[in-house]
Amino acid sequence: MSELVPFLDLYPMTAEVRPAVRYGWDRLLESGQFVGGPSVEHFEQAWASYCGTTEAVGVGNGTDALLLTLIGLGIGRGAEVVVPASTFIATAEAVVLAGATPRFADVSPKTLLLTPETLRAAITPRTQAVIVVHLYGQMPDMTALSRVAHDHGLAVIEDAAQAHGASWHGARAGSIGQAGCFSFYPGKNLGAFGDAGAVVTSDPELAARIRSLREHGRVAGSHYVHGLLGMNSRLDAIQAEVLSAKLPLLDAWAASRREIAGWYRDAFEYTPVRMVEETAGGAGAYHLAVVRVPHRDRVQRKLAEAGVQTGVHYPVPCHLQEPFQRYATGPLPVAEHAAREVLSLPMFPHLAADTVARVCKQLREVLGAEGDESHD
Ligand SMILES: Cc1ncc(COP(=O)(O)O)c(C=O)c1O
Repeated sequence: MSELVPFLDLYPMTAEVRPAVRYGWDRLLESGQFVGGPSVEHFEQAWASYCGTTEAVGVGNGTDALLLTLIGLGIGRGAEVVVPASTFIATAEAVVLAGATPRFADVSPKTLLLTPETLRAAITPRTQAVIVVHLYGQMPDMTALSRVAHDHGLAVIEDAAQAHGASWHGARAGSIGQAGCFSFYPGKNLGAFGDAGAVVTSDPELAARIRSLREHGRVAGSHYVHGLLGMNSRLDAIQAEVLSAKLPLLDAWAASRREIAGWYRDAFEYTPVRMVEETAGGAGAYHLAVVRVPHRDRVQRKLAEAGVQTGVHYPVPCHLQEPFQRYATGPLPVAEHAAREVLSLPMFPHLAADTVARVCKQLREVLGAEGDESHD
């Protein structure tokens, strides 16, 4: 039996940064500044500069990045926030945790991202913001979406948890809206060795509010004077050192991901496998390589039997998940249909060309057998 093809293998990335992480951790152990301090500040500056914003605020995880941004923008009770139905649950979760109401929007059948039309259809007089999700690492038409948001007086928050280094006409993910929210969960394109997140923005007042909110609402420069109702969601110094060690490699890893996506695209050109399409004008970060196939669950099972691990992002659209059904305003056919078909193929920067070829061959064989079965 041939070797298992993992869906994600973090080990080669970890191996590349191990000496730099060890060096950073040694320095940290000497300094003893485990919360805040130079390690966090250094990464925040580097991340803001990478994203093309003036500020970055390190927080505990990507969900808190969204939550603190909403609170920092004053979006809470009585406000509606448009969220695409095709996303990880955290996008909608943050809206409800902030006290606001999510309004689910459908997505493009080609890219599974928000479109100006689906955004417009979800706007009501109570809408105050839209969270644009760069799903799978791809950015939608940010120019058109920003125009719709501007026309309706909405704040634009970018959920860039899957899109480190993606760009729209040269502008990096996170730098176009009022704020961009990142997760550095280990499997993300820039992943920590645990939970971590950040908000990037070029609005210094918003950054200052989020800095205060992440630390119990502390007034800057004081320890026991609290000006806001906040929480505890800080980026660990230990994780900041990991992220600083990995950041110089992010662009090379993104280039590998794009090359691998190209191999998949070429291999499926004359087959029934449809890859989620790229947005013209954007450069995707290919957090995931997602195809759409009929009888997805069966196909996934057969691939697993053949030694190819895959994932499903996501099998249930947000508005059909139990805690969010009460906010659903009707069917969202594109998101619901996509949830039955999407299949995420192995994707990580060190995936070899011959392994990708094996995945493609297995998938073609499984689909060929599926076609024969459906003619029985
Ligand atoms: C699109 C999206 N938004 C938000 C999050 C939440 O990030 P975290 O898991 O760091 O809280 C994730 C993480 O999986 C995500 O994929």
